[in-house]
Amino acid sequence: MAEARPRILITRKLPAKVEARLARDYAATFNPQDTAYDAETLLRASAGHDGLLLCPTEKLSADVIQALPPEVRIAATFSVGHDHIDIDAAQARGLTVTNTPDVLTDATADTTLLLLLAAARRAYEGERMVREDRWGRWEPTGLLGVHVTGKRLAILGMGRIGRAVAQRARGFDMEIHYSNRSRLSPELERGAIFHEDPTEMLGIADFLSINCPSTEETHHFLNAERIASMPDGAVVINTARGTIVHDDSLIAALTSGKLAAAGLDVFENEPAIHPGYRDLANCFLLPHIGSATTETRDAMGFRALDNLDAFFAGRRPADIVT
Ligand code: DGY
Repeated sequence: MAEARPRILITRKLPAKVEARLARDYAATFNPQDTAYDAETLLRASAGHDGLLLCPTEKLSADVIQALPPEVRIAATFSVGHDHIDIDAAQARGLTVTNTPDVLTDATADTTLLLLLAAARRAYEGERMVREDRWGRWEPTGLLGVHVTGKRLAILGMGRIGRAVAQRARGFDMEIHYSNRSRLSPELERGAIFHEDPTEMLGIADFLSINCPSTEETHHFLNAERIASMPDGAVVINTARGTIVHDDSLIAALTSGKLAAAGLDVFENEPAIHPGYRDLANCFLLPHIGSATTETRDAMGFRALDNLDAFFAGRRPADIVT
C-alpha cells in the first residue's frame, strides 16, 4: 500500500504553480477564503496536519506554538522574514521552522531602489498632479527633489538584500556605507565603508536604507534621537520591517522638514498604518510588495516546498531557521 502523503495546511492563496505542486505531492488543505487566520482559527485548522505552510500574516506566538496539535512538526514560512514566529518557542516545542531566503533578494532590492528614487524625486506628488489635472506647465523650480548621484547611502543590515541594494546603488554612483553585525569580507564589501556603530553611520547618511531583520535589538531603532543625528534633508527607505522605525518620530521629522522624504513598503501594524503617514506628501507608500513579482513568488513557493519535501523525506531542509 502506498505510504500516506504528508498533510499540509496552507494558510493563504499561493501562486497557481505552487498550489498545483502541493496538490500533487501532499494531502493539501487550502484556505479557500484566502483570509489571514487568527490564532484560534489557525489552531483549529491545524488539527490533523503534519505541517503548516504559512505567511507573515499568521502569527505563531509562543502560546500558539504550545497549543499546536502534536502532529504538526514543521512550519514552513512563505517569506524570508520569520519575526511572526517565536523561534525560541518553536525550538522548545521541537517544531522545525524553515524560510525562503535568496529567491526574493533581487525583487526586494529593486523595490528598495524604486522607493529611493520615488521618494527622492517626489514621484507621488508629481503623479497626483498629472492625474488630477493640476499640471500647469514646465517650471524651472517646480517639484525639485533630492539629487541621488554621488550621495552617501547608508545601509542598515548588509545581508543578501542589503548587498543587492548596494550593487544597484553603485550604478547611481552612490557612496556605500553599511552597518552589520559583523564586517563583510572585501569581496562582499566591494569598497563599501563599514561602520561598527550603526548610530554613528546615521550621521553621514544622505539616504538610509533599512535592510536588517526585525529583532529585539532593532525594534524602533530609527527613533527621534537617531533621526536628529542624521543630516538635514536626508531620505529614509524601509523595505525590511515596520517595527524597526518609530512611526511618531519619523512622521515628526517628515512634517518638520528635518527629513526630506521617506519611502516605506512595510509598517508596524500593517495593513493598518499610522494615520500620520497618509497626510504626508513627502512619503511614498507601498503595501508590502517588496517581493511581489510573479517569478519571485513562484520561487518562494517552490523553495518552501523544497524544504517540506526534504523534511518529509527525512533530510535536513536547506533553509532551517530552527
Ligand atoms: C519576507 O519574505 O519576509 C517579505 O517581507 C515578504 O515579501
